[in-house]
Amino acid sequence: MVGEDAVVFLPYELSLVAAYMGRQRIIGLGGDMPWPHIQTDMEIFRARTCHSLVVMGRVTWESIIRRNGHPLLGRTSIVLSREDPRGDASYIPAFSIEDALMMIERFRTEGERVFVIGGAQIYQAFMPYASRILISRIVDRYGRLPQGDTFFPCFNKKEFPVCRRKSSGWEGRYRVVLEERIRQK
Ligand SMILES: NC(=O)c1ccc[n+]([C@@H]2O[C@H](COP(=O)([O-])OP(=O)(O)OC[C@H]3O[C@@H](n4cnc5c(N)ncnc54)[C@H](OP(=O)(O)O)[C@@H]3O)[C@@H](O)[C@H]2O)c1
Repeated sequence: MVGEDAVVFLPYELSLVAAYMGRQRIIGLGGDMPWPHIQTDMEIFRARTCHSLVVMGRVTWESIIRRNGHPLLGRTSIVLSREDPRGDASYIPAFSIEDALMMIERFRTEGERVFVIGGAQIYQAFMPYASRILISRIVDRYGRLPQGDTFFPCFNKKEFPVCRRKSSGWEGRYRVVLEERIRQK
């Protein structure tokens, strides 16, 4: 594990992908998403991550299985847990950050992209390795914020300036502002 301020440059692109709301960067509540299903956000997430390796924590994995009934289709999942794996073939288990990095090296095919998809503990741990942060800012038409108990970690915005920003149209009371932030070397 490297120090929080240390930056590690990997020989491949590793992106953190998150949807958050408000200045506090709310991402979760009670092991789930804090807002109702937003189709636009789901489609953006699918388009960004399809045909790639996705890395996540055990809590996020369980919330995906609860919601979808199956792992993310078309993606290879690496799941971090300090417990013994359940021993099924639906994901690649990793017991530490170092172990997850080894699994990426082992299972990543040439040119395949790597996305760290949460939750808070895993975003924090992979921040030193991230070359990009892809954020979907969820905006409420009435400026209201949901309750949250999990938050995207604080990061240095100068270190990760916005390179691209694009807004979707309104979907009911929500719209999504996409931000691509690239680490400055
Ligand atoms: N809005 C978004 O974009 C977004 C994305 C993803 C998740 N979420 C939300 O975020 C919440 C989950 O986040 P979370 O931070 O509570 O949990 P998490 O990061 O998904 O998973 C935490 C678990 O990962 C394992 N873990 C953490 N660090 C580890 C390490 N260094 N080595 C090995 N295993 C490690 C541990 O599993 P064990 O306890 O099994 O050891 C730990 O309990 C949920 O509400 C979810 O819906 C939101």
